[in-house]
Amino acid sequence: MTPAPAVSTAPIGIFDSGVGGLSILRHIRAQLPHEQLLYVADSGFAPYGDKPEQIVAARSLSIAQFLVARGAKALVVACNSATVAAIKVLREHYPDMPIVGVEPGLKPAAAASRSGKVGVLATDMTLRGAKFLALREQVSAATGVQFLLQPCVGLVDQIELGNLGAPEIEALLTRFITPLLEDGADTIVLGCTHYPLVRATIEQVIAAATTAPVTLIDTGDAVARQLARLLGQANLLRSEGGVTKVAGFTSASISALGAAFANLAGVTAPVVQVGFPVPTAAAFPAQD
Ligand code: DGL
Repeated sequence: MTPAPAVSTAPIGIFDSGVGGLSILRHIRAQLPHEQLLYVADSGFAPYGDKPEQIVAARSLSIAQFLVARGAKALVVACNSATVAAIKVLREHYPDMPIVGVEPGLKPAAAASRSGKVGVLATDMTLRGAKFLALREQVSAATGVQFLLQPCVGLVDQIELGNLGAPEIEALLTRFITPLLEDGADTIVLGCTHYPLVRATIEQVIAAATTAPVTLIDTGDAVARQLARLLGQANLLRSEGGVTKVAGFTSASISALGAAFANLAGVTAPVVQVGFPVPTAAAFPAQD
């Protein structure tokens, strides 16, 4: 007799500095169609990428506590910047909980590149993170691939405004991507969860600059697979018996998150406004 599948009806908590994590939520819904999802968009405090790490770590911990208080059985830090700042602290606070973070996909990018040059688009916080720099060294040493780092200051703010077709987004992307292509990059890592949301514009900008094929690397699918793996290991997977329901929480506009759910994730979800403590640098120790 085959054993009955394990069923945990508790929700999965997902958060980002704003709507960027919806690029991860889309993969989670596709791969885990029976899970209940709680999504926090901290749009009232975005962007994270230009704030001190301690501040983002403290803010992330407050959001994690909020999600755990609502019964979350696992956490997805659907933000590269918050992963840099907070993943260690979150794992220390919740040692028994499956916690998945997001990191720029340097290894798949190195494997995909034929020119040996890979552009990495991310926030300043992600590109300065010790773990990222160590990974870059390791992958470069192992493969000989050169990573060209491009902080995309201002791009998250524009995406958060909600008009993904705005000329400002195309102008920023042109400014950030064209030099990478001119320097020989044939592969570009989307190292911030907001960037897959403007993938169509990224592809347009690339097509305007070169006729050569360029590979885009987005780790959303891998993040959802890792979440499924960890839930399975912990016997927490809801493998049947329900249809994904999403509940949204925002520190900014309810209607903006509702529209983002509909337009970016194809989801109709109730949204509630929430507040989190505004951290001060002194309140939280920096991570190493
Ligand atoms: N989605 C976040 C990331 O992946 C955006 C960071 C920000 O708010 O600056 O890094």
